[in-house]
Amino acid sequence: MNFEITAKDVMGRIGKLKTPHGVVETPALMPVINPNLKFIPVKEMKRMGAQIAITNSYIIYRNENLKERAIEKGVHGLIESDLPVMTDSGSYQLMVYGDVEIDNTSIVEFQNQIRSDIVVPLDIPTPPDTSKSEAEKDLKETLEREREATELHAKIGGERLIAAPIQGAIYPDLRRFSAKKAAELKADFYPIGGVVPLLDSYRFPEVVRIILEVKSELPPSAPVHLFGAGHPMVFAMAVALGCDFFDSAAYALYAKDDRYLTVHGTKKLDELQYFPCSCPVCNEFTPEKLRKVPKDERQLLLGKHNLHVSFEEINVIKQAIKEKTLFDLVESRIRGHPYLVSAWRVIKEYRDLIELYDPSAKQGFFYTGIESIYRPAVQRHHRKILNLFLDEKRYVISAKPVLESNQTVHADFYLLPVFGVVVGEFYPGGHAELPEEEYIEEEALEEGFNCLLNFLRENADKSFELRLTKRWVDFIKSKGLKPKLPENAEIVEIVEIEGSSRIIER
Ligand code: GUN
Ligand code: ZN
Repeated sequence: MNFEITAKDVMGRIGKLKTPHGVVETPALMPVINPNLKFIPVKEMKRMGAQIAITNSYIIYRNENLKERAIEKGVHGLIESDLPVMTDSGSYQLMVYGDVEIDNTSIVEFQNQIRSDIVVPLDIPTPPDTSKSEAEKDLKETLEREREATELHAKIGGERLIAAPIQGAIYPDLRRFSAKKAAELKADFYPIGGVVPLLDSYRFPEVVRIILEVKSELPPSAPVHLFGAGHPMVFAMAVALGCDFFDSAAYALYAKDDRYLTVHGTKKLDELQYFPCSCPVCNEFTPEKLRKVPKDERQLLLGKHNLHVSFEEINVIKQAIKEKTLFDLVESRIRGHPYLVSAWRVIKEYRDLIELYDPSAKQGFFYTGIESIYRPAVQRHHRKILNLFLDEKRYVISAKPVLESNQTVHADFYLLPVFGVVVGEFYPGGHAELPEEEYIEEEALEEGFNCLLNFLRENADKSFELRLTKRWVDFIKSKGLKPKLPENAEIVEIVEIEGSSRIIER
C-alpha cells in the first residue's frame, strides 16, 4: 500500500503517499512547474510548504532541448526539484487544442524514461457540456488507454506510481462507471479529470456531485486528486469531500493577470488598498507600492503571495482535520461565493455516504448555518433517540427548562432545533452550540420537529406533554401540523418571565 491514512474528518483525511522520491503528506498542493519558464524555484516552493510538484511531460517531449535534458538528468534534474514530481500526459492540451502529436503508450513510456514519480496516461478530458453519447465514447477510449497504460507500467514502472484519471463529463452514472473501472485496474492514484471548465465557470454544485459519485465507487484507501483545482477557495470543500491532491497553475496564471488570491475569492490588484495577508510579499509591499513594480517582478511577487495563501490554507485544513472541525471550516469558506453555498447543499443528497466516512467521536457541535443540519452527527442523533427504551407511561418534553411551583426544574426530554428530542447531557444535543430558537432558521426548527414527530410515533403507547415556546407553537401552526400531531401528545405553551419559563395555558 502506497497510501496510509493517519487522521480523518468529514470525508477528508491526512495521509502519507509513498513515492520513489519520498513521502508526501496529504492534503497536498502540487505547484505546476512550466519547464519553459523559470518562475519560482522549487527550492523556494519547498520553503513555502510544497512537498511535491507537477509538470507536463508532453511539453518536455515536444521540445528537443528539454527532452534531451530530461532523459539525461531525469525530470527532477530538469526542473531542479528534490521533491517528488508528478507528470501530466498532454491530455490537457488535448482538451484545449483538440489534438496532440503523441500516443498513449509513447507518453507513458516517456514519463517512465524521465523517472516521473506519478505517471499519467493520455486520458480524454471530455468538456462538461458534451452529449452523453459522446462522453460515453470518450470514456470508453480513456478506459482502454488506462488498461493499456497500467499493463505497460506494470512491466516498466518499477516503484513509480501510475494514475487512472476519472472522466465522464457531468453524467453521474458515467463518473461512477469510470471510477469503478479505474479502481479495478488497481492504479496507485486517482485524479478526477475534466473539471477545470466547471471550476472556471463557478459550476461548483456539479463539481461536488462529480466528486461524491466518484467517491461512492472508489475504495476509501484510494488517493484522490482533483485535477486542475488550484484556487484556495475550493480546497476546504474538496478536502471535506475526500480529495487528497490539488495542482495549482492558478498561482501563476492569476499573477500574470494581476490577480490576488484569497481563501474567499479573487481580488484584482487594482482594487486593493490593503493586503489582507502577512506573507513576506504582503508585509513588504502595500498594494499601491506593488502596482508600481515593473510587470515581470510584480508577477513573480504576486505569484509568491498566491502560492503562500494556497499553502497556508492547506495547513488550516490539516489542523481542522486534526481538531475534527472541518465541517465548521467548510461552512465558513462556502460564504465566499453563493455557488459554493449551493454546492455544499448538494451533500444533503449524500448524507449516508458522508456518514460512512465521518468519524462519530467529536468534541461538540457548533452550528454555523442551515448547512450544519446535514452533518452526520444530526442523523446519528435522530436514530439514537428513536432507539431509546422508555419504561414510564407519561413524559414531559420541554423546549426550555420550566420552573415548577416548587422551584424545581422538570423535564424528561428537551426539544432543540436541529437535534429535536434530546436527553439532558445526551451527545451531541447536550453539547450543541446553537443560536437561540428565536433567531434560528426555520429549517433548523423543521429538522428538530421532524425528529419529535418520529419520536412520538415510535412511542405511540406513551403520552407526552409538550411544553413549547411561542416560536415553536407558531412554527407548528404555520406548518398546519397541529391537527396532525399524534394523539399521544398534548401541547402546552410556555412563556418566559424574568429569565425563567412558566406554563401559560393548560
Ligand atoms: N489537467 C486538468 N484536467 C485534466 C484532465 O482531465 N486530465 C489530465 N490528464 N490532465 C488534466
Ligand atoms: Zn500575501
